[in-house]
This record gives sequence, structure tokens and C-alpha cells, in this order.
Amino acid sequence: MFRYELIGTDGGARRGVFHTPRGPVRTPGFMPVGTLGTVKGLTIDQVAATGADMILGNTYHLRLRPGHETVAALGGLHKMCGWDGPILTDSGGFQVFSLGAINKVTEHAATFRSHIDGAKIELTPEHSIEIQQALGSDVAMVLDHVIALPAPMTQVEDALARSIRWAARCRDAADREDQALFAIVQGGLDRTLRQQCASELAAMSFEGYAVGGLSVGEPPEDMYTTTGFTTPHLPADKPRYLMGVGTPRDLLENIARGIDLFDCVMPTRNGRNALAFTDEGPLKLRNAVHKLDTRPLMEDCPCLACRHSRGYLRHLFVAGEMLGPILLSHHNLMYYGRLMQATRDAIEAGEFESFKNAKLAGWGHEPF
Ligand code: GUN
Ligand code: ZN
Repeated sequence: MFRYELIGTDGGARRGVFHTPRGPVRTPGFMPVGTLGTVKGLTIDQVAATGADMILGNTYHLRLRPGHETVAALGGLHKMCGWDGPILTDSGGFQVFSLGAINKVTEHAATFRSHIDGAKIELTPEHSIEIQQALGSDVAMVLDHVIALPAPMTQVEDALARSIRWAARCRDAADREDQALFAIVQGGLDRTLRQQCASELAAMSFEGYAVGGLSVGEPPEDMYTTTGFTTPHLPADKPRYLMGVGTPRDLLENIARGIDLFDCVMPTRNGRNALAFTDEGPLKLRNAVHKLDTRPLMEDCPCLACRHSRGYLRHLFVAGEMLGPILLSHHNLMYYGRLMQATRDAIEAGEFESFKNAKLAGWGHEPF
């Protein structure tokens, strides 16, 4: 029911389609983040208009609120939020660790405290899959053990070995034909560990492969290097997903290194904070320079924000009007969606390298 079709390559960049029972996902592609069953501030129609094929939900958050059983009772995540295209759910691994909720990690489970009522919850690989099945996502992620970097080598190795064992337990627990399971490669910035992890997971035949544990504070160049030495060890006939990344520049640099899918809160979170992405770099809409500016954010952008002047958008933020965050979230997701469409076109035309260089030049030396 799941199949990755590789349409063409251009250098390291890949153009493909990930076929799912709920429709095709064009790659390279960006998944808007809908942590709690909503892409913050936007209706499902507005999200669809940005060109997104698949959106992301979070096991950790939905387990706590409204609860996976409540989501199931409401007909599942698709029915509940109204998105009938594919949905990918993260496993909870990263959120448990990154949100500081972690209580303890044993071979059996990661135990954490709910940030809502303090209740102790045991997240085993099997429970993560059970939750993702109740949510009814199209793509589930394996539960992984994520650690803060830098960390002692023994700790990186220990977390990595556990992540592989947990991936195997998730594989055993995942028994739905209509739900794909993606593995997650860990291993910090270490070439040998990344290659070892990628090869071991590749041998276990998942429907897709994610690169995790990046964009956690390391310099962007280190992220690109790590992606670059990881992707050659992943199966060419499966989609590759770089988790939690990134800036527009991060997307193009990682596409050049063979990544197909991304997700990140950056377009929506920055939009709520009055920052707009453009081909000339970021615009801070609260700045006084925009006060009397009659131009839209971008001349050729079909989003809801670009029907208005920069001066009006600034006014909305200064006045604390909720329409400001809504409009900028729409613009930024449209920016990412159009960037991915233009990237797909460039790869098909065999012009990815010059396309990428032109974009980087437009964004300037300190892009975003
Ligand atoms: N989101 C961003 N990075 C990661 C990661 O390493 N693991 C998981 N599960 N989710 C992520
Ligand atoms: Zn726009």
C-alpha cells in the first residue's frame, strides 16, 4: 500500500512520489506541523492551499490531550481535524526528551511526567505504536532514544543501540497494512555510528527512513555533513525524512544530500512572531520601516497575507490582532510550499545546483 517512486535525480537531489492509501506525497516535500491536530492558526483548507501533501501530528501531545482514546472515539485524527490527506505522527521519543518531561529511561520504556497533570506515563515502543494506531496516522515513527549533545561517546552509543532495539520492537508491534512505519537513524555527529545505525535499520526493511537527532544546536555545516554521510547508507527505494528541519537554506542543502521530506515549526512559529520568509531574506513585520510600506511581502505570492500591504500587516502585529499571526503563518507555509514546488521543477529540469545557488544568493549571508 506504500511505495516510493523515484522519478529522477540531479546530483544528490531526488525527485519522487511517496504513494500512500490517502494519496501521493510529492518529494522533495515539506510537512506542516500540526502537533495537537491543528496547524496553529490555520484552517485545513488554508494549509492545503500552500501545497502541502502530508501533515504531521505528535503522539506525545495527543496522548496527553485530548488522549488517543478520545481521538479514536472522534473517528481518528483525520476525521477529527478534517484533513483527508496523509498524516505522519512522530513517536513521542523526541518530545519526551526535548520537553524535559523525562523521568527515567530503562530498556523497557521511557517514563515521563505529563506537563498537564503531572501523571507518570510509561512510553514503551509498543505503547507508542498503540497510540499511533489509535490516532490512525498513515505513517508512524519508531520510538527512539534521543539525547542532548554534546554527550560522552559511551552515552551516544548506548542511546543508539537502544534506539535500534526499540525500532525492532516497534516493527514487531506494528501490524497494520494501512500504516507505514519509518525508522529513525541516530548517532550524533559521528560518521561511524551514523553509518552503522543506517545499515542496521536498512536491513530491517522499514517503509521509510528518518534522520533524527539533528538541528539540536549544532552548526548548520555539521548537520549537512552528517546528512551527507548518512544518506548513502539508506535504501535508495525508500523515502528519507530529516526530522525537525529547518530553515529554507537547510532544506536546499539537505535536498542536495539526498533528503526527501522535512517538517519544522519554523514557518508557523516564526509567522506567529511577525517574521516573514521572502526571497530576499526575512522581514520583521514589527519594525517601523514597514509602517508606510504599501507593498505586499512578495509580489507574486498567492497567499492570504500578500493581498495586503506590509504597513497593514505591521499594524496588525503592533495592535496585537490575531489576524497578523494567521496571515503570516499562511504566507510562510506558502513560501515553504512554493520553495518545494520550485525545487521539484528544478530537479526535473536538471537545474537544481543553479537553482539552489540563486536562492542562497537571494537570502544573503545570514539567511534566517
Ligand atoms: N524530531 C526532531 N528530531 C527528532 C528525533 O531525533 N527523533 C524523533 N522521534 N523526533 C524528532
Ligand atoms: Zn504571501
